[in-house]
Amino acid sequence: MEPRALFPTHLYGGLIAEADDWIERLRADILAWREADPGGFPRANAGNSWHSAVDAMTRPAFEPIARAAIAAATDIFGSEGYRGGTRARLTEMWANVSEPGGWHTPHIHTGALWSGVFYVSVPDGAPDIVFMDPRGVGPHQRSALYGAEPEGDRVSPPVQPGLMLFFPQWLPHYVVPHPSAEPRISVSFNIDQIVPEGPKTPSFVSVPEVLSRDEITRVYAQLAGVKWGAGLVDGGRKSAMRANSVFFVPDGAREDSPWHWLYRKVRDLAEIVNAEAFGFDISADAEIQFARYATGEKYDEHIDRAGAMSRAGTRTLSCSIFLRQAGKGGGIRFPRADEQPPHTAPGDAVFFPGTEPHAALPVEEGTRDALVFWFHEAAGGKDDAA
Ligand SMILES: [Fe+2]
Ligand SMILES: [Fe+2]
Repeated sequence: MEPRALFPTHLYGGLIAEADDWIERLRADILAWREADPGGFPRANAGNSWHSAVDAMTRPAFEPIARAAIAAATDIFGSEGYRGGTRARLTEMWANVSEPGGWHTPHIHTGALWSGVFYVSVPDGAPDIVFMDPRGVGPHQRSALYGAEPEGDRVSPPVQPGLMLFFPQWLPHYVVPHPSAEPRISVSFNIDQIVPEGPKTPSFVSVPEVLSRDEITRVYAQLAGVKWGAGLVDGGRKSAMRANSVFFVPDGAREDSPWHWLYRKVRDLAEIVNAEAFGFDISADAEIQFARYATGEKYDEHIDRAGAMSRAGTRTLSCSIFLRQAGKGGGIRFPRADEQPPHTAPGDAVFFPGTEPHAALPVEEGTRDALVFWFHEAAGGKDDAA
């Protein structure tokens, strides 16, 4: 059997390019702040270490770093697949100054969504931050394979001035005592999300008579002799949640494809429906798949959108066109919608967001055929950047 790597922990990091322009002013402001408020706001800092109040983002010298943190976190929200338009918000920002013997006890950032740190001064010999395996399993409890994971149970990215790191708030971390006479200075922050306002996205849009009877006949003529495969999940797994056959149309977007007439027709309609009801980015080529459900076959509740880790890409808008109804059972169902699509005769279509849960109900008699389009976000978009 093959092992699977489950539940990855994402640590983001990078140098802030424009930090040279403001890091000196920031350092001076932090030291002046400590002088003015030597008691600070003690939290995870210990020993000879100063922790400022947590409203640092209101100080003018912190404005550039606050802006850089918000911009970087907003990008990360995109990479993590948060709802489009979600922006980052700083809830807390504070400075840390460690003198010899100052350190940070192991802790998490309760209440935040993501947390981050930016390094201002890292003198020679200053310790790196240490992230701990969040699974709470000691090395002695591990199998040989588990212990051989490349990252081990402690991860210490080397830190330097200008580096910004982001980590989920639940990831425990600490810093061992600082040995040097020159202070180690960093700025930490907690991040929350601002979800975009706007009208609620509909669960689906039902469109009658998208394909004529003649067009459906043409579809079946072209389907004769194609090779059907098993319907899989998560870009290539078999699963009890899905049993059906599929045929992926290769390159339907290409003008020399025998399926291009169908691609063009549904694509044009999708542009209109999307502009009126959804407003997604669907500028990349779409995929076309035929789905066949024989008696007893089904596809349990799922969403179509897949993120950076899926071969399927970012299915932003889905469209299902009914071709043949089962004698009994079958059909598409949207569990979160108050009502189900009213137009489900052969040739009718339903458009829905890639994030909308839906199911293909079990066919009880006969065979059900549907045509599925997935409209993708722009290539090179956020999912490709991860
Ligand atoms: Fe921390
Ligand atoms: Fe689906």
